[in-house]
Amino acid sequence: MAVSHWLLAPALLLLPFVAYVSAQQGCSVNNTQPSVNENNPSGYVVTTVHLESGFSVTIDPNSPDYGFFTLQGSELQLTQSVDYEKNTLLIVYLICHYPDGETDSLQILVTIVNVNDNSPVFQETNITQAVPEDTKVNATIIARESLSATDGDLDVIYYELTTVVPDTEGYFAIRGLNNPELYLQKALNYEKFNWTMLLLYGRDRPAGSNDTNTATATINIFIEQADTRPPWFLPCSFINTDKSICISSPYTGRVTIFEMSTEPLTLQPGPVYAVDPDYTLNEKIVYSIVGGDTDNVFSVDADTGNLTMNKAVASADSFLLQVMATQVNNIQKYSVATVEILVINKSNYTPYFESKIYNGMVSVGLNPGSFVYQADHPSSPLMITAVDDDFPDKINPDIEYYIKNSTDFTTTRDGFILTSVTLQTPQTVTIEAVGKDTVTLEETSTVIVVVVHATAVTPSAKAHTVQDMAALGGTLSALLLLALVFLGVMIYKQHRKPGKSLLGEKVFLLYFSKEISRGYSNESYEQDEHPDVSTKQPEMSENRSVQSTPPVLEQPVPSFPSSNAQETGSLSKASIASTITYDQEENEEGQAEETKQEKEVKSILKTDRQVSDDGYKAVWFKTDVDPEAGETVEVIENNVSDGDNDSDQDLQNREEEEEDYDKDDHYV
Ligand SMILES: *[C@@H]1O[C@H](CO)[C@@H](O)[C@H](O)[C@H]1NC(C)=O
Ligand SMILES: *[C@@H]1O[C@H](CO)[C@@H](O)[C@H](O)[C@H]1NC(C)=O
Ligand SMILES: *[C@@H]1O[C@H](CO)[C@@H](O)[C@H](O)[C@H]1NC(C)=O
Ligand SMILES: *[C@@H]1O[C@H](CO)[C@@H](O)[C@H](O)[C@H]1NC(C)=O
Ligand SMILES: *[C@@H]1O[C@H](CO)[C@@H](O)[C@H](O)[C@H]1NC(C)=O
Repeated sequence: MAVSHWLLAPALLLLPFVAYVSAQQGCSVNNTQPSVNENNPSGYVVTTVHLESGFSVTIDPNSPDYGFFTLQGSELQLTQSVDYEKNTLLIVYLICHYPDGETDSLQILVTIVNVNDNSPVFQETNITQAVPEDTKVNATIIARESLSATDGDLDVIYYELTTVVPDTEGYFAIRGLNNPELYLQKALNYEKFNWTMLLLYGRDRPAGSNDTNTATATINIFIEQADTRPPWFLPCSFINTDKSICISSPYTGRVTIFEMSTEPLTLQPGPVYAVDPDYTLNEKIVYSIVGGDTDNVFSVDADTGNLTMNKAVASADSFLLQVMATQVNNIQKYSVATVEILVINKSNYTPYFESKIYNGMVSVGLNPGSFVYQADHPSSPLMITAVDDDFPDKINPDIEYYIKNSTDFTTTRDGFILTSVTLQTPQTVTIEAVGKDTVTLEETSTVIVVVVHATAVTPSAKAHTVQDMAALGGTLSALLLLALVFLGVMIYKQHRKPGKSLLGEKVFLLYFSKEISRGYSNESYEQDEHPDVSTKQPEMSENRSVQSTPPVLEQPVPSFPSSNAQETGSLSKASIASTITYDQEENEEGQAEETKQEKEVKSILKTDRQVSDDGYKAVWFKTDVDPEAGETVEVIENNVSDGDNDSDQDLQNREEEEEDYDKDDHYV
């Protein structure tokens, strides 16, 4: 070989001459300097020799690369595969034999062309690496040597790194195009991902080239959680989107003054409890009180966090304890939570609702925040009240109300029921309302049945002022008095015999139809009420001694009379006195309320005399009553005691109702 290269330069200089000569001499080739790719198959035809008749050709055994060539007929062939990495040029001489016996020489130079026949090779194609979560940015994860590829063609290797797992891009990178050292580019967070997979490509040509061989290595990265975070008190809420910081709200608890509880305190929102957020490590946590424990009243269990009392509290001042949770393995990993301990008075009674069930009504289509009205008294908003026997007046100012199982209704602090949506469907809904003592946390519940009406119920009462009503009432009572006097005179004239009354021993009560003060015209409401009247009627006939006229008076009495023309008409119609027994039925129905104005015009004929109530006019009939007898007159013969009681009770009830009305009035 050394020889062949040594000869190369002079041989090349001779080439044009040789070719020309050989062509002249009857032996010729198309190309005396062919190129052949390395790794050729054996028998590869390098060139073809053209001979004129009488000429022949052989390979000169003294050719530098004689062994590589053979002549098959006129074809010059390679006998073996040639490797560029071993031979880059082959030289062969052909001898041309003339017909006259002379010979001539023809030199062929075969250039071997390098082809990219070797791929880069990684030492390891599957690499697994554990990376601590707290690894510093720019730290080397895998050394260059471990990730470099080699190439049989001795090519320079170009590297590229890609991330397979979504949302884990950007954390790992290689130092450069030709330096595959893997390093951390961005801080890790175990909560985000604990594993990722990378692919490292090694190429023997720059990106975009043809004829590139590529090797691939798979790198699995497992993140190991590090003890990066201090304990968290639970429950807590995250303050950032990557959920790396969680802040707890204060705990609150209650102790009764002068009492020492032996049980662990019950706290809101839950017991004192902290966790190590680096949960795979789950370091042990201990608790201690580090502040606010005036007089050393409280202890905390180091292991459980349970708070207990050492002694009773003698002052009403609340405590603001600071409880620290510390990791045992690292005292600097700690958190502090506040625990507010309120000192409360002893509660002997739990609050309760006076009514187990409340009935309300509301119309569809009203704006959210509309009042629910009392079903039996649609001009007054429904109000629920829980009372507490711990208080002299039973009114516990710390009671708050809420609706437990419906989002369609809410309550005000005072217990009024409001809609919280615009109700669309007429229906009857049952909801549970809770009254909660916000100091003792005692609870009581009641049920509210709300009828959602299809049509709007608009109490017209608001249209009238108290003055209007007073004027109207005054006028009417004057008219009524006139009528009664007339009636009385007529009766007296017809039955003037002493000791005998018109109806024997029966008692008459002259009563004013309540129709007069009916302040609304809701049909469904009236329909609701009339059956009541009819069902009551036989009862009255049984219990009462007289039933001479239909009881037109048993109509519900709303708070506000109406003054529109139509109703004023019905009022005068109804002002015809009716004969009836006691008016206590309205209380049984539980739906009548008397206004102050009504007081002036209602029952003026009564069986009992009530002088204490100003403005309350009563007329009573009985022939054997001596007007001079004064306050002690007793005129009822049948069911005497019954009637008397009823009447007294009635009056009492009425006064209560009036109070109720006054209260309601502020809200209407
Ligand atoms: C990152 O690390 C490499 C070697 O590990 C160092 O040469 C380079 O200066 C570092 N760069 C920064 C910004 O720290
Ligand atoms: C890694 O995270 C997956 C959920 O992303 C979880 O199922 C798996 O248990 C975690 N592995 C470890 C070792 O924590
Ligand atoms: C801590 O208190 C809870 C009740 O609040 C109780 O169930 C638990 O047993 C207590 N733990 C200890 C160790 O006293
Ligand atoms: C506790 O009761 C006392 C009277 O017994 C009263 O003066 C004090 O206001 C009450 N404290 C609370 C917080 O209700
Ligand atoms: C709410 O609770 C009460 C009593 O527990 C029940 O009767 C009613 O059906 C409940 N209403 C709804 C809407 O769940």
